[in-house]
Amino acid sequence: MQYHFADRMTCAPPSFLGKLFAVSSNPDIISFAGGLPNSSFIDAAGIRDAAIRVFEEEGSVALQYSTTDGYLPLREFISRRYQKRLGLSIPPNQIQIVNGSQQCLDLVAKIFLNKGDPIAMERPGYLGAIEAFSLYEPEFRDVALGPEGPDLTEFGNVIRDFRPKFFYGIPNSQNPSGQTYSDNTRKAIAEILEGTDTIFYEDDAFGELFFDGKPRMPIARLIPDRCILSGSFSKVVAPGMRIGWICSPPEILARFNCAKQAADLHSNFLCQKILARYLESHDLDAHTRTISEAYGRNCHLMCDILDDRFPEGMSHTTPVGGMFMLATLPEGLDSMRLFEEGIKGKVAVLPGTPFYVTGGGQSTIRLNFSSMDEARIIEGMERLAKVVRALL
Ligand SMILES: Cc1ncc(COP(=O)(O)O)c(C=O)c1O
Repeated sequence: MQYHFADRMTCAPPSFLGKLFAVSSNPDIISFAGGLPNSSFIDAAGIRDAAIRVFEEEGSVALQYSTTDGYLPLREFISRRYQKRLGLSIPPNQIQIVNGSQQCLDLVAKIFLNKGDPIAMERPGYLGAIEAFSLYEPEFRDVALGPEGPDLTEFGNVIRDFRPKFFYGIPNSQNPSGQTYSDNTRKAIAEILEGTDTIFYEDDAFGELFFDGKPRMPIARLIPDRCILSGSFSKVVAPGMRIGWICSPPEILARFNCAKQAADLHSNFLCQKILARYLESHDLDAHTRTISEAYGRNCHLMCDILDDRFPEGMSHTTPVGGMFMLATLPEGLDSMRLFEEGIKGKVAVLPGTPFYVTGGGQSTIRLNFSSMDEARIIEGMERLAKVVRALL
């Protein structure tokens, strides 16, 4: 039997993740390669209590079909929180619940992209976005990302010469680099985009995880008519609930809603109700503070070890939030080689190459600092330093 798959399946980047999962499930290996939030901050007992209340009070309603846009009290919660945290006025009818913000990547690409259409993103960029967009066969451009955000000259040139349908970016604690755009960069981006037909797709998966607890200004506040903003409960409540959202101008949201309905009718209604109940009776601000402070401690520890215990030539980004940092290896050391040798030394890192749509990344690795405690970070980084030293 020969299976005749669609041409677009050849556009999916080769998945490195299978190999990675095999490695990460080995308990002897300390893995900095994954990207999980720390399980100890998932309030299973609180979510169970909320679930019990939903089942007792409205079980059969919660188990029925529902509307595509999502459970209204949950959208109202998101709307209120935007106003309170970020001074953003987004009414609930401009918010659509999705199956994790990952679903936005697929559906935004679906409603905007014809084969060969131009889009742009950061270099390095989020692997999950590269995978989602690639299936719609766009033409990619990328813009170098530094400590202040995308290089503005390059950004301006790409927008002017290439006229991408959208620029996909993660201004807060980017994945994989951990970089956060400065306020000036945000303003400059908004100015460059003003008067063009390029949308800024602002993925805010990590905006609640600043170590100093201070929110940064969303680009959506500067150019609301040309911005798609996505968010998620994955990093602050529980990724397994698969609940995220998208906000956009109504004209875009109507098309998005149509694509969402065709894809899955609606996101899991039971989970939406449980989450809404949970949020009614729990202080999400206090919870995100606890998580951010813990991730901040882990991040500083990892930076210190990289600075003090690794050979000359090793450098790294210095995140102010989120879950990841990017390290650049001493000259001559290849990230794939480090991955292979790391496994033998019982430590896993994620090579940079899959994060680059136009090639590169051989000298970088992504390190996750959210998923484990300090003792394991110390042990894992000691193992990694030993492998790096042996390879030089
Ligand atoms: C930048 C970014 N966007 C989106 C997602 C998808 O998250 P979720 O679908 O759980 O909201 C992730 C997951 O790690 C991410 O890192």
